[in-house]
Amino acid sequence: MDSARFQALNVGYLERVETALRTLTPAATTRPARLHEAMRYSLEAGGKRLRPVICLAAAAAFKSNTSAEPAAVALECIHTYSLIHDDLPCMDNSDLRRGRPSCHKAFDEATALLAGDALLPLAFQVLTQGYATQPALATSLIDELAHAAGSTLLVGGQTEDMGGLTADRHPDRLEFILLGKTAAMLSASFSMGAMVGGASKADIAAFRQAGQAAGIAFQLVDDLLDLSADAATLGKPVGADAQNQKFTYTSLHGVPATKARIQTLTTEALAHLAGTSGEVDFLTTLVLQMADRSK
Ligand code: IPE
Ligand code: IPE
Ligand code: MG
Ligand code: MG
Ligand code: MG
Repeated sequence: MDSARFQALNVGYLERVETALRTLTPAATTRPARLHEAMRYSLEAGGKRLRPVICLAAAAAFKSNTSAEPAAVALECIHTYSLIHDDLPCMDNSDLRRGRPSCHKAFDEATALLAGDALLPLAFQVLTQGYATQPALATSLIDELAHAAGSTLLVGGQTEDMGGLTADRHPDRLEFILLGKTAAMLSASFSMGAMVGGASKADIAAFRQAGQAAGIAFQLVDDLLDLSADAATLGKPVGADAQNQKFTYTSLHGVPATKARIQTLTTEALAHLAGTSGEVDFLTTLVLQMADRSK
């Protein structure tokens, strides 16, 4: 897809995401206001909105009339909660997120913890309310998101990530971390979009696999950016992984091998997309950009 066409579509998706986030989540003035202010603060612009955009584009690939907005918002709520908790002093202890003080710095630790807690059930309520007239679809989406965000994937990956370089350094542990903490939610972004789009079981599975490969590549790029980018561009600190002694692909295999794996995984993701009956031009360009980004 040429870059002008990609940009035009991307701007449209981003506008839809921002509108849906504003309308489907509680106003900052809702009681208790400090909690809702903190939720809004962390949800507000500054994030790349990759997961919701993937979800909208994946649904559009199959041309259904069902709105993908609730699924997109649910994904961003879970993702944002995971970032709030990831930044807490007991986890990565990071003071900068999305170009602003992290939630626990702008508010306080208890409020940040609770804002994350509140975003988690909100995600599922947005799904039940958004797809109330399609209970089978709602159940599939809830199951997919709960699995990705649960103890064997997102939370499990975050758990094993906490061991850093001091725990077991087996490559299997690294794959578990990459798949869990990052790839699972990106994979669910592709698969939930495909579900809303009414894709076949086989195409949903292919989107899930495409998202897994692209998602692992995404975390490998995140690790490289932590080594080489600057905080102003990234909107979060650099050098944090070395400081926290994180167990990353680069710490195990070095930079050239990390770049090579990003290429292999990206090719794999594109092949999964190409094998479906979906209109995947936008997603193909997006996956290529995810592998070659500067923030
Ligand atoms: C950050 O995700 C956490 C990782 C999984 C690497 P993003 O890089 O998508 O963060 P935002 O949403 O743009 O802030
Ligand atoms: C993030 O991994 C994964 C989640 C937040 C679930 P990182 O800890 O590398 O993410 P950043 O670099 O803080 O965004
Ligand atoms: Mg982390
Ligand atoms: Mg972190
Ligand atoms: Mg990182």
